[in-house]
Amino acid sequence: MSNVVLGVTGSIAAYRAADLARELMRGGCTVRVCLTPSAEKFVTRVLFESLTGQPCLVWAFDEPEAGRMAHIDWARQADLLVIAPATANILNKLAAGVADDMLSTIALAYTGPMLVAPAMNPAMLANDTTQESLRRLVARGVEIVQPAEGEVACGEHGQGKLASVSEIASAALALIGWTRSLRGRRVLITSGPTREPIDSVRFLSNRSSGKMGAALAKAALWMGAEVTVVTGPTSVPPPLGASVVKVETAQEMLAAASEEAPAADLILAVAAVADYRVAEPSRGKIRRTAEDLLLRLVPNPDVVAELGRIAKPGAVLVGFAAEPTDDLAVAREKLERKGLHFIAANDVSRPGIGFESDENELVLIGRQGPPERSGTLSKIACARWLLERVARALPG
Ligand code: CTP
Repeated sequence: MSNVVLGVTGSIAAYRAADLARELMRGGCTVRVCLTPSAEKFVTRVLFESLTGQPCLVWAFDEPEAGRMAHIDWARQADLLVIAPATANILNKLAAGVADDMLSTIALAYTGPMLVAPAMNPAMLANDTTQESLRRLVARGVEIVQPAEGEVACGEHGQGKLASVSEIASAALALIGWTRSLRGRRVLITSGPTREPIDSVRFLSNRSSGKMGAALAKAALWMGAEVTVVTGPTSVPPPLGASVVKVETAQEMLAAASEEAPAADLILAVAAVADYRVAEPSRGKIRRTAEDLLLRLVPNPDVVAELGRIAKPGAVLVGFAAEPTDDLAVAREKLERKGLHFIAANDVSRPGIGFESDENELVLIGRQGPPERSGTLSKIACARWLLERVARALPG
C-alpha cells in the first residue's frame, strides 16, 4: 500500500480533488488530504475525511495524534506528494521554500517525488514569476501535469484548466510504480572530482560539480533504494537520506567504494576520477624558483574496473564517459575495457550540458541493442531516465 498525501489549494477546481482522491484509492493508495485555508472555502475537511477514512489537515498546528508533529509525520510517511489543484500561490511558495501553512510546511519537510497539477487564470499561469517557479520545480524533479486549454471559471479563454482527473491519477500511479522499482536494492554511486595533492596547498582536479551524482542519488532514493555516495569535494551535497563517504583522492575513493561494492546491486560510477596522481607530493609548500618545475605523474587505479572485480554476481555496473556523442566508438571501447554493463556518454563539448550545468543529455549504451538517447533534460530527469533503464537489467 502506498501513502499519498494529496494537497488541495484554493482553486475553484478544488471540488475535483474529491474524485482524484477516490481514483488514487482505487489504484491501491492510502490517501491523506491536506487543504490550504483557501481550499477550505471551496471544499470541506469532512468531505475528505469521509471519503478517505483518514484525518484531513488544514492549519499549521493541526495535530491528529496528540504530541506528534503532523507535518513531519506526513512528510516522512508519504511515498508521493500530489498537489491538485495547485494555485499560482502554492507554486511560487514551493519554488521559494515558503512554509506558512500546513501544506507548504509538509512540502518543505518532504524529500520524495512530487506531482503538481496547476489550475489558475491564464494570465496568472503566463506570469513570469509563475513560469520561473515552474521551471525551478521541474529542475528539482517535480512532475507537472500541464493544465488544459479552454474556458476557465473566470470566463477567460486560455491555458489554466485543471487537467482531467484520470490524467492526474495515471501520472500519480505511474510515479508510484516507479518509486518501487529499486525497493530493497543497494545503490553505490561514485561522484564528483578527485583531488590529487601536489603539495600541502595545491592539487590536480577537474571541473566535475557532483550535480549528476547528486541527481542520481536523489532519484535512486525516490525509487526506494538504499544509497551510498562516495564523493570527492563538490559544491552540491548529496541528498538527505543517502549515506555519504567523503574522499579526496582516487585511491581514497577506491578504498571507500570497495567497502560498499560487494553488497551493491547497482554501481554508478559518475565520478570524474583523475587518471594520474603526483608520484611524490611535497610535504610542505613548493616555493617559486627560477627553474622549471617537473611533476612526475603516475597512473591512478581505475575505480570502476576494480569495483567490477569485487561486485556480487548479478550486480549492474554503469560507467559514464565524457565523449562526443556523435562518435560512440570510444565509449563502447570503455564499456568493454572496464567490464561495464552500461555506459552513459555525454557530450561535454556542447554548451549548456554536462559539467557544472543543470542540464544533461545522455546516450546510454548497453551490451546489447542500439544506444538510447535521453534528449536534453534537467539532471534529475536525466537521472530518472537512466535509472529506469538500468533497473530493468537487475536480476528479479
Ligand atoms: N573511472 C574510474 N576510475 C578512473 C577513471 C575513470 O572509475 N581512474 C570511471 C569514471 O567514473 C567513469 C568511467 O570510468 O565512469 C569513464 O571515465 P573516463 O575518465 O572517461 O575514462 P578513462 O578510462 O579515464 O578514459 P580517458 O583516457 O578517455 O580519460
